[in-house]
Amino acid sequence: MIMIKELQWDSAFFKKKIGTLIVDAIEVKNLSSTIEKARNAGFHYLTFKTKSFDMPVIQALESAGFSLTDIGVTFRANSDIFSSTASPKTMKWRKSLRVAGFRDIPMLRTLIKGLFPQSRFYHDPFFSKKDADNLYQQWIENSVKGTAADIVFCVDKAGFITCRKKDKLSGEIVLIGIGKRTRGKGLGTVLVAQAMQWFRDKGMRTVTVRTQLRNPDAMNFYIKLGFLVKEYDLIFGNKL
Ligand SMILES: CC(C)(COP(=O)(O)OP(=O)(O)OC[C@H]1O[C@@H](n2cnc3c(N)ncnc32)[C@H](O)[C@@H]1OP(=O)(O)O)[C@@H](O)C(=O)NCCC(=O)NCCS
Repeated sequence: MIMIKELQWDSAFFKKKIGTLIVDAIEVKNLSSTIEKARNAGFHYLTFKTKSFDMPVIQALESAGFSLTDIGVTFRANSDIFSSTASPKTMKWRKSLRVAGFRDIPMLRTLIKGLFPQSRFYHDPFFSKKDADNLYQQWIENSVKGTAADIVFCVDKAGFITCRKKDKLSGEIVLIGIGKRTRGKGLGTVLVAQAMQWFRDKGMRTVTVRTQLRNPDAMNFYIKLGFLVKEYDLIFGNKL
């Protein structure tokens, strides 16, 4: 069975009707008729996310006009991987770190611009660079307001991390970003340590974080901190 579910938030944000395919198993003949139905229903763009490297499925998607837009890698760690980051190098970050509040929104909207060039939104021609910039700015604002994250920690004009509870025992780092001039100075480590403490305090034992395969710096960062690869995903897009 193949269905299309409208992504309401995405449609409203990009002002174009966007949907995602929900499938049990992809059958080529059904896929092309589903896409025709989507086109007739006014969809401009369809996405499809899969966690398996199933060649018949990938070939069916490609024949129906989908292209690969992103390969995600999800890392997982126990929330107790490290409890202290005390070192002279990180002292100044630990002192200036705070929970982000509404007054930090303008600073965070400025800081986040251009921090995630590896994201699919900057590579898929369906989205303009302005769309992608706006998306991240709205995302960090919604995180502080509590609709896209449960808590945001930040250091003024330097970096931030957003944390979300997934279920009783597990949490997720949704976004982490350090300003270009501040990278490699231990702030990312301090922010992850702070996030891990928050997850532990809330009873969450495991923490996941997703990044892109095209972002080896971030993957090395998570590996250095003790995360291991949990799974990968492939995201396809089709401009109708
Ligand atoms: C990835 C990121 C969060 C790392 O933050 P950071 O403050 O620069 O990292 P730290 O200084 O705490 O580095 C900790 C360790 O991670 C590893 N690491 C960090 N940046 C790295 C890089 N560019 N290449 C390889 N390893 C790196 C190093 O082993 C480093 O330890 P060391 O300094 O003892 O060698 C930061 O570079 C960033 O914000 N990048 C852009 C946004 C992004 O890609 N976010 C993640 C996507 S979800």
